[in-house]
Amino acid sequence: MSHPVREFEELAASFEERFQKDRHPAEPEQLYKAAQHLLLLKGKRVRPVLCLMATELFTPVSDDTYNAAAAIEVFHNFTLVHDDIMDRAPIRRGEPTVHEVYGSSTAILAGDVMLVQAYEYLAKINKNILPRVMGIFNDVALKVCEGQQYDMEFESREDVTLEEYVKMIELKTSVLLAAALRIGSVLGGAGPHNQDILYSFGRNMGIAFQIQDDYLDAFGDQRKFGKKQGGDIVVNKKTFLHIRALSVLEGDQKAEYLRLMAEEGEQKINPVIALYKESGVDQWAKDLKEKYFNAAMANLEEVAVVSARKKPLKHLAEFLLERQM
Ligand code: IPE
Ligand code: IPE
Ligand code: MG
Ligand code: MG
Ligand code: MG
Repeated sequence: MSHPVREFEELAASFEERFQKDRHPAEPEQLYKAAQHLLLLKGKRVRPVLCLMATELFTPVSDDTYNAAAAIEVFHNFTLVHDDIMDRAPIRRGEPTVHEVYGSSTAILAGDVMLVQAYEYLAKINKNILPRVMGIFNDVALKVCEGQQYDMEFESREDVTLEEYVKMIELKTSVLLAAALRIGSVLGGAGPHNQDILYSFGRNMGIAFQIQDDYLDAFGDQRKFGKKQGGDIVVNKKTFLHIRALSVLEGDQKAEYLRLMAEEGEQKINPVIALYKESGVDQWAKDLKEKYFNAAMANLEEVAVVSARKKPLKHLAEFLLERQM
């Protein structure tokens, strides 16, 4: 008889139990406290759970998958520390960001520490399979940097297309979800077809996930979302909301939108959100997310295991698409 598959909550709890977040040298105190700051404020743990789920499709999870999952989560948290510096973001997971508390220089170093720690987790993986896992990890780590670079370059451009936006969010966000699945499947002994198709599933789900993130940045409830409402508007992020507004608004409204975009400061958040609403962005966001969600579901169908085993991944994708946090 085959082993049971577990749903999100059970796997997240099992990950949390094994995940060491507070084993740090005592000094320099500011550096290691900064490196721990985000890890102690629990995130959703989506990426490690995806990694565990991917292994569990094929075999019971072992220490190798827990270590890979930890490496991915620490890497993700590292990217958040540096992302918040780049995005001038004051709040994450409902608390002041690392650079707000410790200053940007310490936050940069804390991020560096976390990247090294991610590799320490990876290094614990069985030597037979480690080169394969490391290859996937490194490939994706570079892609995240590329995506982040596009994200920043787009801040000062007004002509970003929907195609460019999708490519950017694929690189900065979705490939890490995809890699979590690929690594989990490799450690579960999946064949190449299943590895590839799970990667595509993660890629499509990740694009829908970032679309939802960009939506929530403007329309979310700060208490649930844990990030500053309108943060993307203040720093002129070229999200799909912006692209939609530019293509739909006309006449005075368009002129007003362009004038607001050229302004600096937080006073433009509410009027920009109002113009987004005018652009019918709700339905558009729904359609855009659904397009990628449906593509993800079609990928999942193709994974060659009995469908009952795929339910946790399906439920997780559904949760992420509707998430408010
Ligand atoms: C935030 O990721 C960064 C994005 C790629 C949108 P999550 O929404 O997974 O953040 P946490 O880890 O749950 O805080
Ligand atoms: C995050 O994109 C991408 C990475 C951290 C690599 P965002 O900048 O939208 O993420 P949040 O909203 O700050 O979490
Ligand atoms: Mg950000
Ligand atoms: Mg960012
Ligand atoms: Mg965001």
